[in-house]
Amino acid sequence: MLWVEKYRPKTIKDVVAPSDIIKTVVTWAENWKRGVKQKPLLFAGPPGVGKTSLALALANTYGWEVVELNASDQRNWSVIYRIVGEGAFNETLSDEGDFLSSREGKLKLIVLDEVDNISKKEDFGGESALIKILKRNPPQPMILIANEPYNLSPELRNLVTMVNFRRLTRDQVVKVLERIAKLEGIEIDKKALYAIADNAGGDLRAAINDLQAVAEGRKVVKAEDVIVAKRTQETDVFKVMQKIFKTYYSTVYSEAMLLDESPEDLIYWIDANVPLEYEGEDLYKAQLVLSRADMFLGRVKRRQFYRLWKYASYLMTVGVQQSKSKVKKGFTKYTRPTFWQKLVTFQKKRELRRNILKKLAKYSHMSRRKANTELYDYVRFLLSTLDTDTAAKIAAFYDLNEEELKFLVGDERGEEIYNYMKKHNYHRIEDETFLEGYAAEIKEVELKEEEKEEVEIEEVEEEEKREVEIAEVKEEKKEEEKKETKRKRRKKEKKGKDMSLEEFFS
Ligand SMILES: Nc1ncnc2c1ncn2[C@@H]1O[C@H](COP(=O)(O)OP(=O)(O)OP(=O)(O)O)[C@@H](O)[C@H]1O
Ligand SMILES: [Mg+2]
Repeated sequence: MLWVEKYRPKTIKDVVAPSDIIKTVVTWAENWKRGVKQKPLLFAGPPGVGKTSLALALANTYGWEVVELNASDQRNWSVIYRIVGEGAFNETLSDEGDFLSSREGKLKLIVLDEVDNISKKEDFGGESALIKILKRNPPQPMILIANEPYNLSPELRNLVTMVNFRRLTRDQVVKVLERIAKLEGIEIDKKALYAIADNAGGDLRAAINDLQAVAEGRKVVKAEDVIVAKRTQETDVFKVMQKIFKTYYSTVYSEAMLLDESPEDLIYWIDANVPLEYEGEDLYKAQLVLSRADMFLGRVKRRQFYRLWKYASYLMTVGVQQSKSKVKKGFTKYTRPTFWQKLVTFQKKRELRRNILKKLAKYSHMSRRKANTELYDYVRFLLSTLDTDTAAKIAAFYDLNEEELKFLVGDERGEEIYNYMKKHNYHRIEDETFLEGYAAEIKEVELKEEEKEEVEIEEVEEEEKREVEIAEVKEEKKEEEKKETKRKRRKKEKKGKDMSLEEFFS
């Protein structure tokens, strides 16, 4: 299974954190335990430093149930509101309306992630809704999590106790990596460990993922292995992609036209790599642009309209390029499209990807956006390179089905993993009893949201189709006009000839 999950801290003791942080959260939890209400905590800090882990470990240590919700996910808001908002604390209120301590009523820890991504807008689901909830003094322990706490309004910050997480030091990272390597029976150079740690820049998740990637298929890891793993191929396609993803120079279109790859091939390269570079809204926009480009390519083939071909190329290069609101910093190792990726329609791909992300997000306790940027490619990489048994365990952990596996790692390997899972009866053991009370509600909200999403997608696709049709009609007209002028010209010429003949004879 994925090492970041396998070695996720179980209790507070397993979390690497400065003692002042541990002291703050333990005191806070002890007070709750005694029945003394506390302000919610706000865990703030960069990715991969243990914010989510500490929250989960804390609940585990105190035997609290956890309700994990994502603030940036609009669909959660009515649930949040019901749980935290409108006196939905029945389980912890006595008949007289008194707050019960954990001896009588069991505490539920509400973990609200991605708080810095909620919208500032006044409407329901925005920051103001959260403020309203916090002002009611929730009778349940609540931990908010944010990467950028200073995006939050001072009013909100005043309602919580801030706990600042810092990046882990190089030595802290190396220590964790060392322990994991030992448990996994891998012999690894100190130098290699430091190289991984340096590259991760205090993000332990990234470091552990890198370690697993580089240790794959090896019992001994040397510093060179780490360096080689980082080096990339520098082909022209990679350069063009770099220009698309990392810059705004529209010259990329003409450069792309010089490639050996035809637009039909190039689109797969771009499609396979957009998710490595874009996230959230940017990714969504880029993928729409790509599916439009793909539709144009389809028309080119069927109708031989070569102007549409140019249009498609323009969309997949400049269109994708301009879809980003910001450039992702740092180096990105691009991948080549798999054979299987080329066989699936873009629409189907979007759907599959969405479903996989849903599962990764759910079982790894992160938002879909985060799963997209932090997890998706590692999982794909590991599934395709690890031994089948481990891969099958990972697949079972994320509850991936056959189709999803094939989509991720290709037909052959996907089937292999799937068959192995079936044969060994690997499947996810659901332990979500903590959600029982809310399961129905969450389902209901999710279903509604999904329906909405479907409708939106259909609308967009309709629009795309219309757009393509309009372009096609225009194209047809142009062709017609061309033919028409040709006919006229020919007529004229003929007329001209006739005239001169007549003249000749007259
Ligand atoms: N302080 C830590 N102690 C032990 N393990 C850690 C720590 N930080 C990160 N990890 C490891 O990295 C993984 C990811 O950490 P976690 O999900 O807690 O990060 P996070 O701070 O919530 O990041 P994000 O802001 O991206 O949500 C964990 O599953 C664990 O394996
Ligand atoms: Mg987290």
